[in-house]
Amino acid sequence: MPMIETINLTKRYGELTALNSLNLTINEGDCFGFIGPNGAGKTTTIKVLATLLKPSSGQAQIAGLTVGYQNRQIRPLIGYVPDFMGAYQDMVVHEYLEFFAAAYNINGMQRKKVVNDVLELTDLTYKQTAEVNGLSRGMQQRLSIARVLLHDPKVLLMDEPASGLDPRARIEIRELLKELKKMGKTILISSHILHELAELCNTVGIIEKGELLFNGTVDEILRRAKVGHVIHVGVAERLQDAAKVLQTMPGIEKVSIVQGDGTAHGGGTGQLIHAQFDARMGGDFTDIPNVLVNNGLRMTHFQEEPVNLETAFMRLTKGLVQ
Ligand SMILES: Nc1ncnc2c1ncn2[C@@H]1O[C@H](COP(=O)(O)OP(=O)(O)O)[C@@H](O)[C@H]1O
Ligand SMILES: [Mg+2]
Repeated sequence: MPMIETINLTKRYGELTALNSLNLTINEGDCFGFIGPNGAGKTTTIKVLATLLKPSSGQAQIAGLTVGYQNRQIRPLIGYVPDFMGAYQDMVVHEYLEFFAAAYNINGMQRKKVVNDVLELTDLTYKQTAEVNGLSRGMQQRLSIARVLLHDPKVLLMDEPASGLDPRARIEIRELLKELKKMGKTILISSHILHELAELCNTVGIIEKGELLFNGTVDEILRRAKVGHVIHVGVAERLQDAAKVLQTMPGIEKVSIVQGDGTAHGGGTGQLIHAQFDARMGGDFTDIPNVLVNNGLRMTHFQEEPVNLETAFMRLTKGLVQ
């Protein structure tokens, strides 16, 4: 049974169809990246899953329980981090957490322990007597996450938790999410930036104008978007010859010679060949070393270029939407 499932989930605001028959499946322990531009319907979906909005038609389920019918059983299972934290005047960090722990019926010594545990996990122990309103946005986001961890939910629903954060705070949130993933939580996290989620998530869904364009693994999305892998190859000598050899390999679309960037990672300061595969034509880049050796060429560098997910996303949505 999936941990999160939507079946033809549709949500209308008056005339506007914000979600159009959305079918999402997220399994236990998955970290699901929910990606789409502003206005796509991410927040609406998350609010339905968080039992805060009722579907116009279709269904949303958490652990087999149906939103709108079994909200009371669903709520203890989920932790919802909204896109904006409300204002909490005159409250310090530990009071804020104790307030919400009390709301979850966590009392006495247990409350103290749970609050300390989540402060530790979110790296906020040193801020426990600081005013909530005086925290940086990054710390406020961590505190929001701390709050939804108090009742140890199985499912975390996070609406753009990294938006508006500086790069350092983004990394801190990402590290925290990795911890939560290790703890076995099922995580849905939305963003309008694809690469932000690529490292963290094993599955992704792409939504645009209320329609789900794609739901699957990160690997699948790349195959579907048919982004050619680029392989960087260095040889000890006869660079031009090597380039010609690669040019004739099946599946290689384009070969160019470029200057290395001087780092060990970039192949030193020597020249490198960039060979781009056309994913549609098949072809296997692991053949490259053999082919070079068979042509009497000595390979000094071989590296796969990290795939640009942003490009994959653009190609995918273009192809499907237009
Ligand atoms: N309460 C509301 N009333 C009317 N329209 C809304 C409301 N909330 C969202 N919308 C509209 O629904 C669409 C989806 O919004 P939203 O779910 O917030 O998208 P996202 O989170 O992906 O930016 C948008 O066109 C938005 O303007
Ligand atoms: Mg939103």
